[in-house]
Amino acid sequence: MLIAQLSDCHITIPEEDFAKLYNPADKLREAARHVNNSVNRPDLVFLTGDLVNTAKAEEYEVLRGILPEFEMPVYLLPGNHDDCTLLREMFPDHDYLPTDGKLNYVVEGWPLKFICLDTNIHGKPQGHLGHEQLNWLDQELTRETDRPVVIFMHHPPFKTGLTSMDEMGLLDMDDFAEVISRHKNIKRVLCGHLHRSIQKLIGGTLVQVCPSTSHQIRLLLAENNELGTTFEPPEYLLHYWTEKDGLVTHNDYVKDYKVAWTLKGEM
Ligand SMILES: [Fe+2]
Ligand SMILES: [Fe+2]
Repeated sequence: MLIAQLSDCHITIPEEDFAKLYNPADKLREAARHVNNSVNRPDLVFLTGDLVNTAKAEEYEVLRGILPEFEMPVYLLPGNHDDCTLLREMFPDHDYLPTDGKLNYVVEGWPLKFICLDTNIHGKPQGHLGHEQLNWLDQELTRETDRPVVIFMHHPPFKTGLTSMDEMGLLDMDDFAEVISRHKNIKRVLCGHLHRSIQKLIGGTLVQVCPSTSHQIRLLLAENNELGTTFEPPEYLLHYWTEKDGLVTHNDYVKDYKVAWTLKGEM
């Protein structure tokens, strides 16, 4: 199966200066067109948070208008730019979202089990899971120890060297690492938030961060602690699962590049 992970679309209303700078709504429409028509068409799409930019109902309204353009099921996760209460209210048809409490959920019915975690702290840029959610995660992972699992969450559970973004990181990353280190059936932890492609091994599991469909964060490491954005091209992650070879992740651009050369048949 193929799973597309798109992240940090930061939708705004067209009148905002932010929209004039990044044009996030048109870029998400372009992403929908791209995955629909791709030769590697995904079965499912996960949007891993920062769905809108300033958590306003008008922004979720714009997003509501775009989502039907995806021709496959789309699952939503909250990021720090989202309002979980509003998100739930604006997407009542997304009935996998719990009706109260944190927006944690499980997607079943596929060769992989998907566990989605809500790292949102209302009104704050940092993320947090807490004991209750970590216990729930531990129980979900223990339920079927031989079933392959992928975990989605907005805030990555590690420090990156992008100092300004690290200050907006997951507050209880060590507790999360402790839980996942006890389970051998996790095939990947997949995050957003950092608007770049970044990987690190945590507790024996590869954690990957998905770039943004809107704009990327400037690569400034260590003491270069200013925060900037770039117009590097919109990207997403395509996760390819086979029983035989496991989960392989590819970065793809939201753009159709011309094929330069091709060879058919036996190599
Ligand atoms: Fe973001
Ligand atoms: Fe974020």
